[in-house]
Formats: sequence, C-alpha cells, structure tokens
Amino acid sequence: MLADLFLGLDVGTSSVKAILVSANGDAEAAASQPVTLQTPEPGWAEQDPETWWTAGVAAIRALVTKHPRARIASVGISGQMHSSVFLDKSQGVIRPALLWCDGRTTAECREIETRAGGEANLRAWVCNAALEGFTLPKVLWLRNHEPAAFARLATVLLAKDFVRLRLTGTMATEPSDASGTLMFDPARLRWSREMLDAVGLAASLLPDVGGSAEVLGRVTETAAKRTGLAAGTPVVGGGADNACGAAGVGAITPGEAVSSWGTSGTVLAPTAEPRVDPRLRAHTFCHVAPGVWYVMGVVLSAGGAFAWYRDQCARELPQEQRDDLLVAEAAPIPPGAEGVTFLPYLQGERTPHRDAALRAAFVGLSLAHSRGHMTRAVLEGVCFALRDSVTILKELDLMPGTLLLTGGGAKSAFIRQLQADIFGVPVTTVNREEGGAYGAALLAAVGAGVFPDLQAAVRRTLTRQPLTSPNSATQRAYEPLYERFRAASVHWSR
Ligand code: XUL
Repeated sequence: MLADLFLGLDVGTSSVKAILVSANGDAEAAASQPVTLQTPEPGWAEQDPETWWTAGVAAIRALVTKHPRARIASVGISGQMHSSVFLDKSQGVIRPALLWCDGRTTAECREIETRAGGEANLRAWVCNAALEGFTLPKVLWLRNHEPAAFARLATVLLAKDFVRLRLTGTMATEPSDASGTLMFDPARLRWSREMLDAVGLAASLLPDVGGSAEVLGRVTETAAKRTGLAAGTPVVGGGADNACGAAGVGAITPGEAVSSWGTSGTVLAPTAEPRVDPRLRAHTFCHVAPGVWYVMGVVLSAGGAFAWYRDQCARELPQEQRDDLLVAEAAPIPPGAEGVTFLPYLQGERTPHRDAALRAAFVGLSLAHSRGHMTRAVLEGVCFALRDSVTILKELDLMPGTLLLTGGGAKSAFIRQLQADIFGVPVTTVNREEGGAYGAALLAAVGAGVFPDLQAAVRRTLTRQPLTSPNSATQRAYEPLYERFRAASVHWSR
C-alpha cells in the first residue's frame, strides 16, 4: 500500500507554494507558482484573490502530476496575514484584496481608535494597535470610499481562507489568522463583540472559527477536477504564514524565537499567555498550537526590499543567478558598506515606527560607491530593521540565547552570518526549509491523526542544524553601525 502524504499550501505575496510531506517528515515534492502585486498608488498594495486560487490549482496540479499514485491524506493551508477578501452573497470577489502591506487606511485607524474610545480598549479587546495593515481598517476603508461595493459585502475572508472556500466550499478561519484582523479577541478566542459594536459592523460578515489542526472542510467534486486531488480529501484549518512558518522550524514553545525573511521580515517569540508590548510596537497573535500565543515585530519590506532593489538595479544579470551574483558582489565590502545606509521602508514600517507614510532611502552615497556597496547596505538595512524587533523582544524578556531562522535569509550562508553578527546572537536553522508550507503540512498530518499534536509532529520531523555564531570582531563593528541606522531612521521618520 502507498504511504500517506500531506499537502501543505502557502498563499504568499510573491508566489503560491505547494509541498507534499510524508509521515516521517520528508518533503517528497514541491511546486511554486508566481503571483504579482499591484500598487495602484504609492503605499497601496492589492492582489486579485482569484489569482491565489488559480496559482494554487496550478501548484497542486503540478504535484499531483509528478506523483500520480500518491495518496494525499489531508491538506493544510498557510497564507499571508490580514489581506482582505471582500465577497458578495454569491461568494464572488467584489474588488481586489487590500494586502497586509497596504498603507492607505491611516484615517480608518484613527476612526477605530475614536470609536473604540482609545487605545486602552483596543489593548483590552483585541490585544493590538489599530495599524493600516490589519483587516478591520480595510473594511472601514471600503465603507468610507466605495460605498456601492460595501453595500454588496456579505463576507470578509483572509487569503488562505478564500483558497479554502474555493477548495472545499466552506467559509471558515482559525485563531492564528483571525487574531490578525483586529476583530478577534486573542485572549478569549472569539470574535470581539465589543470591537464590532464599536465600529458598527455585523458579526455575520465573519466566518466561523475552528482549530488549526481541525478538519474544517473537504475537497469538493469541482475542486477535485481542477486540482487532481481526490474529492472528499480533508482540509484542516491551517494558519497565518508567520505562525505556520514558526511551526515549520519547530518554534511553537515559549522560550524560543524565530526570525523570518520573506517578502516581509518578522521576529516572533511564542508565549504561554497573550503578552502585549506596553508600547504596542509589536503584535500579539494566537499561534497554531492551541494554548500558545506569540509576540511579533514586523518589517514590511525585507525580502521585498531586496527583490525590488534587484529588479531595479541588476536587470542585466542572468535571472536565475541574480541573487547569488549580487550577494557575491556585497560579500567583500566591509561592514557598514563604507558609509552607505539603506532604510528599507518602501511600504512604510510597522515595528517600531508604526508609520505607513514612511519611505525608503539610501543615505551616504558618493561617487566612490559601487553596486556592491548598495547591495551590502540593502542586506544590512533589512537586518538592522529586524534587529529593532529583536531589541523589543529583549526588552520584553522574550529573546532566547539562540534564534531560529526561516525564509530566504535562512538559506544563504552569508545572510545567516550577517543576521548573527547584527543581532549579536547565535542563529540556527532546521533540516527543512519550506517554511509556512511545511508548518501547514504538519498541521494536515496532525488533523489526519498521524501525530497526537503539533508538538509531537515537530519532535518527530525536525532536527536543528549546527549554530552560526556571531564573529566577535564583526559583531563589535556592527554596534555603532546599528546606532547609525537608528539615527538615520529616527531622523528620516520625523
Ligand atoms: C504580519 C504580516 C506579514 C504577512 C506576510 O503581520 O503582515 O508578515 O503575513 O505574508
């Protein structure tokens, strides 16, 4: 008999990835389909939800075609957080989704604070500040700016939950993604009646909330025909990409922390209760493991800043090798890029600035500088911005002695060392590098009963790689350079 496989799907901002994982944790196959992002105005960011579904179908079909005899026992979905899918009563998409990195809703954030009666109530009801990236301000933006569209609004879903709807016909979410909407109470694990009443929205706009490893729907006949999956295949709740990414490297237990380098960059520490940053610079969300929460700082443009820079400044390099060639140009340049600093705020910044209007900058360029200096400054700028989050986690006493890495920054030896040197902590990775898709596949395996819980799944499948320790001379050199970055970012953010 063929062994069961578990499908993990990650609905990202630059691609939709699908992987097949076996019960012993091996990733048997992977496929990825690119998706594009539209910026109709500076600071805005949109995607058509149907493109996530089309890309998901193509990625799943590619896996099923490669493994025609595989028995896919269950599916887990991970996805970009906060992005708002607006559906009418026939479950049709009303307009493109406003993404997590869309900064157009500053007025709506102020409206939420006023209607809620101040930030203290936000903290009490939803554990977070009103930030442009979250879902609730996007719903209010639709109400304020596109009233005809708002009049048709029947349901608000998140990215992975929209893919679930197309795959299973079920409208549902789970706590890790619900807690990024600003409409869910992460402490009481329910939609916040207080918040919905304060802003005048009906709870009927929101889907039911199930568990991340719970079967919340089954693949329909129609979706089976399109994807090649068997009709009736169970689909578990899954989770927010940051939570699934953390699960994918085993960071589900208080006392650990993980730095992720995707389109955004995050530093996340699991906690045993919902801990809230007193200054609300970091977010507080539910994890995909029941009874675990996390505190997370977010850099809006991490891999996204590097990809933008690469696509603008290295077009003549062969596409497949662009990243490696750029990193090779940056490697011999000394720390601090001989005076060049890059502030990676292409879409504004969440942590620590909470400023959607902030923009990126190169500072300190001269005729003597080359592209290698600029590349080095971009890589360092992303790490410095992530260090701002490391600093906040340290302040909250949530930074362990070793930091796990995931995403693009975990794959490159140069960027691993850079993170160790700039954060001043040893870093490590695990035997798997599929990130959110891997975490989603583990949840699918738990849902299918292969493991009793996520902790057991992580224990049985993941092993830690050797540590990359900071080079003490380089770490010392980076201390004043981090201060230079801080000074430039504080000055620029005024
Ligand atoms: C987290 C956030 C991003 C997205 C990226 O709050 O907005 O990390 O989840 O997909």
